[in-house]
Amino acid sequence: MRSQKCIVLGIESTAHTFGCGIASNDGRILANENSVYIPKEGGIHPREASRHHSTVAYKVVASALRKAKIKKEDINAIAFSQGPGLGPCLRSGATIARAIALILKKPYIPVNHCVAHIEIGRLISKCYDPLVIYVSGGNTIISAFDAGRYRIFGETLDIAYGNCIDTFSRNLNFPYPKPNELHPLDHISTEGGNFIELPYIVKGQDISYSGLLTAALKKIQEGFFWRDVAYSFYVTASAMLIEVAERALAHTGKREVLLTGGNARSRLLQSMLQLVCEERKVKFYVVPSEYAGDNGAMIAWTGVLAYKHGIITPVEKSTIKPKWRLDEVDIPWRL
Ligand code: FE2
Repeated sequence: MRSQKCIVLGIESTAHTFGCGIASNDGRILANENSVYIPKEGGIHPREASRHHSTVAYKVVASALRKAKIKKEDINAIAFSQGPGLGPCLRSGATIARAIALILKKPYIPVNHCVAHIEIGRLISKCYDPLVIYVSGGNTIISAFDAGRYRIFGETLDIAYGNCIDTFSRNLNFPYPKPNELHPLDHISTEGGNFIELPYIVKGQDISYSGLLTAALKKIQEGFFWRDVAYSFYVTASAMLIEVAERALAHTGKREVLLTGGNARSRLLQSMLQLVCEERKVKFYVVPSEYAGDNGAMIAWTGVLAYKHGIITPVEKSTIKPKWRLDEVDIPWRL
């Protein structure tokens, strides 16, 4: 294990965000610069998002170096988000990261995007061994560390929590929430409404959101009051996740819960999990908004942890892994 001081520059590009973060081995985030592609209409088109990433890359990386107040010679290694994610987006990020590593002649570190969401949450929230609820537009995973890996104790069988609520919102013509803004469905759930029964699909420790989404959109077409449908939809989607999380908490016996990922900003999820944690007398942590959505800092920090344990890859063997699962990754820094 390397023990000397090190600074890692990390590139994130798995979906709508191109990010560049810089972190040092003492746990300081020196820069976290991100540019988010927001489609004019519809969901993320991978090719258009990847074009956005290539266009903004130079500006974002230059800005991160300026903010960190370091020279490029101070960087010890380059980390990149190798997967999981959208192929074209991962490819543009990897190409940019490879070019930086080759020009600076620095080691190249592959980082799993899901591991990075967990590690930035642990670092910034200052928790050590939590049950992790990781929710975003692309992933919905309940996980805990055991025997060298982040094991999965529940996940979605189809679409992710964030994708499900964003698709529903788009159908109701709600604007895409900007980072640090409350989701439109959070405003509605705070005000409450008449609860309409919708499909609640939990299979063992896994959940399924596509049937709930279809049924909620059908209710709108059938003329049910949209506010009541939106309220019931958001509460149902969140309750499914909380049920699985609570069972995982009981099973693993963890004494901390960490909510991370883009949808960690959800006030409804936060309040539901807070309640579960109070009842079970465990500590509840939420990743701060700046580090909730995809960001370069989480790749840089996980890069530091990996670099210290000698996890580097030759550039010529560093192909992207769009389907790379969280539980396939060894975590030597927690052994
Ligand atoms: Fe993410």
